[in-house]
Amino acid sequence: MTVYLDYAATAPLRKEVLDCYVEHLQTLGNPSSVHSSGQLVRRTLEEARESLAKSIDCNRSEVIFTSGGTESENLGIKGLYWQRVGEDANRKVIISAATEHHGSLDPMEWLEKHDGAEILWLPIDYQGVIDYKFLEEYLKENYNKVALINLMWGNNETGVITDIEKVVALAKPLGIPVHSDAIATFGHIPISFANSGLSAMSISAHKIGGPVGAGALIVSRATKLVSIIHGGGQERGMRSGTMNAPVAKAFALAADLAVKELEAEAKRLNVLRDKLVRGVLAISPLANHTSAEALRMPHNAHFTFEGCSGDSLLFLLDQQGVCVSVGSACQAGVNGPSHVLLAMGRNEREANGCLRMTLGRETTDADVDVFLEALPKALDGALRAGLTS
Ligand SMILES: Cc1ncc(COP(=O)(O)O)c(C=O)c1O
Repeated sequence: MTVYLDYAATAPLRKEVLDCYVEHLQTLGNPSSVHSSGQLVRRTLEEARESLAKSIDCNRSEVIFTSGGTESENLGIKGLYWQRVGEDANRKVIISAATEHHGSLDPMEWLEKHDGAEILWLPIDYQGVIDYKFLEEYLKENYNKVALINLMWGNNETGVITDIEKVVALAKPLGIPVHSDAIATFGHIPISFANSGLSAMSISAHKIGGPVGAGALIVSRATKLVSIIHGGGQERGMRSGTMNAPVAKAFALAADLAVKELEAEAKRLNVLRDKLVRGVLAISPLANHTSAEALRMPHNAHFTFEGCSGDSLLFLLDQQGVCVSVGSACQAGVNGPSHVLLAMGRNEREANGCLRMTLGRETTDADVDVFLEALPKALDGALRAGLTS
């Protein structure tokens, strides 16, 4: 039996979501066609939009369906940047943080390399928290040079939560749009797009029990952005291409269930996570609980074990039937220390020796026990491998 503690990489597809997806796959019609078959599929798509909007607390017209989190982030960041630079060529600064996911780091760095963007990296403290005071001071002096602010809501590696409302409160009076990657956050802590004041927000279905390859960019009605995909003008002209109604419907159902269950699940997972953290700290004097003093998401536990290779730990746990992660799944397989931990001031040895456990709907108390039983052997093996390499 496998114990799966890697929900932040991807969560199991829920049975009711799979059934919904399969059911709607069987309906023939293009939602843009005017005949009755097309209009039937259009209705499915619009029901999905309405339902997802309710789960996120936004207006239905603000939901732009995409192929996933990475596409949403590319549209949100590049689209906002090009819109702002198109209106005023002096606004070339993107304010962000080096702890972001590559889904947003790479579009920003692409704009820097190919399109004259200047990135202002906010200072990050040891806990992984951005320097809000620095942001405030920078904006006072430089607000007219800023194209946008891009900051994730919750960090996928450490679980640290950004105070998005505080960021928006600084940016909005200056007319600066804020995009947030809520991909690791949506479904885990309460999110209201309407109350956040964000201009745009990215979410993804497969992190909450929906299908892989489905996401959305939520774009406030007051926000304009330049499209990155050109074609038939679907999705308010922001994302051309035939809309995928079955996927949208499945995504909306997963979101609805995740939001309805959020409060109870957060409480349950908090208890399991705390047990896991206590267990790890009791097992190993090497364990350093990452961001222990920061506000974090309830399903995430992250540690560094200085002197151990995180890759070895992952492998040795996997051999005992436990799936965990060293960080972002997109980076897994790529050797090297976590860019998130380096940005938080860890040295390479620490950033190489990290382990992330993320829990979810199917995680049980017994799963945590299995992990804690497997850990000493994995640590022992990883330490010995470190000594001989
Ligand atoms: C914080 C964060 N941003 C972006 C992504 C990319 O999302 P997707 O896999 O839907 O492209 C992920 C997924 O790992 C993530 O955790």
